[in-house]
Amino acid sequence: MRVTITSLKGGVGKTVSSIHIAACLAMRGKTALIDGDMNQSSLDWARAGDGLPFEVVAIADARKYLTSHKPDHIVVDTAAAPSDDSLKILARDTDLLILPTKPDAISLRALIKTIKILKDAKANNFKVLLTMVSPSRKVGEMATESLSNQGIPIFKNQIRLYSAYEIAATNGCLVHQARDSNGRKVSNSGIAWSDYLAVGNEL
Ligand SMILES: Nc1ncnc2c1ncn2[C@@H]1O[C@H](COP(=O)(O)OP(=O)(O)O)[C@@H](O)[C@H]1O
Ligand SMILES: [Mg+2]
Repeated sequence: MRVTITSLKGGVGKTVSSIHIAACLAMRGKTALIDGDMNQSSLDWARAGDGLPFEVVAIADARKYLTSHKPDHIVVDTAAAPSDDSLKILARDTDLLILPTKPDAISLRALIKTIKILKDAKANNFKVLLTMVSPSRKVGEMATESLSNQGIPIFKNQIRLYSAYEIAATNGCLVHQARDSNGRKVSNSGIAWSDYLAVGNEL
């Protein structure tokens, strides 16, 4: 399966989602994460630690890597704000385009613009993923209901907001492996991972 994670807006959880969705797919087969962002956030994440369960490959090396390694699953992390044309190309070249968004009004407006571009291009292979949802879930559930009522495809499961992700990024590991400076498991890291596992099961 090929999954591409994109958004017009930055800071919505594309890289965190790419890393953890790739980890979900890696449980089913050989997986590669292609880092299509010039900031190389996914590559930096991988370099900070000692072993994610999948390979992270720079976009410049992707063609060669994919030809020689032939992974079963590919996840593409992208830069924010792709042009209309590159958004259409991303949709054309993937099985599923995941659009992460925070549930706030500004992010949702940017999401609606993205969806309009995709619909104008007759691309229907996209699905919205709510990220950084307050753990009470109320805002997330309201956003899910509102988007579903507009006929927008959306993951049933949402990604809640937990500081464990910041620690995982620093450690270069998956969220449930995050450890504090005393080597202790970070609180809620298991719950955080269960959110991505649930989303992975929807793929
Ligand atoms: N579910 C979450 N809970 C808490 N912090 C998060 C979550 N998802 C992302 N973050 C944090 O938000 C920031 C932006 O996330 P990132 O994945 O880098 O977004 P993008 O790739 O869309 O720019 C990072 O500091 C990241 O650690
Ligand atoms: Mg990113």
